[in-house]
Amino acid sequence: MDQLVEYIKDQIWILEYPIRFAGLNVFGRMTIVKLDSGDLLIHDPCEISDLVKCGIDAIGEVKYIVAPGSYHHLFVTEFQQNYPNAETFLCPGLERKRPAIKFEWILGNKPDHRWANVFDQVVIQGTKYMWEVAFFHKPSKTLILVDLLENIGDDFKHPTSLLLRFWWKVVYRMWNNPKAAPEYQMGWGKKGIVKKGLNKILSWKAERVILAHGELIERDVSNVLGSAWRKVLNA
Ligand SMILES: [Fe+2]
Repeated sequence: MDQLVEYIKDQIWILEYPIRFAGLNVFGRMTIVKLDSGDLLIHDPCEISDLVKCGIDAIGEVKYIVAPGSYHHLFVTEFQQNYPNAETFLCPGLERKRPAIKFEWILGNKPDHRWANVFDQVVIQGTKYMWEVAFFHKPSKTLILVDLLENIGDDFKHPTSLLLRFWWKVVYRMWNNPKAAPEYQMGWGKKGIVKKGLNKILSWKAERVILAHGELIERDVSNVLGSAWRKVLNA
């Protein structure tokens, strides 16, 4: 579980980590990207163990810590303590929701100049309470999301509880059917603004998606995204 997986050779590593949320045992996924400079960007940090730290340190120096979503900040402070020279970037709104988290920057619609040659990004103002910043890794055409797409079903490699299966199959109908997180489905915010952001993501024409909860999407990405976000895109 603590083992980093090299997902895109010499560029992207991922690590799934267990997490409990809203009474459900779900999993999150940290993504580590090596920039052209050799510096590392940590996207959606996980709980750090000696094994995880060793794995990261073997890849490069952590310079940037990114909390990409309103609910994806839990281990930022822990990472800051382990990597005190790294700069922290927060999803807009987190600075008010979690004022105790120290940070240097708020993420916006333009990538930081130090990663602009590798990433594009866009803020998705999903709901009043839940925003996230989508990243597109240009060299590998990899879209990196947290909650805008969840993919849990028969292929999910972890045990699922009866409660999770009930919610996913019966209530949200998202078992074997990738959709945005239930919090988004309960009511998107200003649909026009959300739609604009989602269309920017679609314009990237990603070939694979790293997401926080569930299995990666590696085929037919445009159709999967279009179907998952249909209600907003058609609004
Ligand atoms: Fe999440």
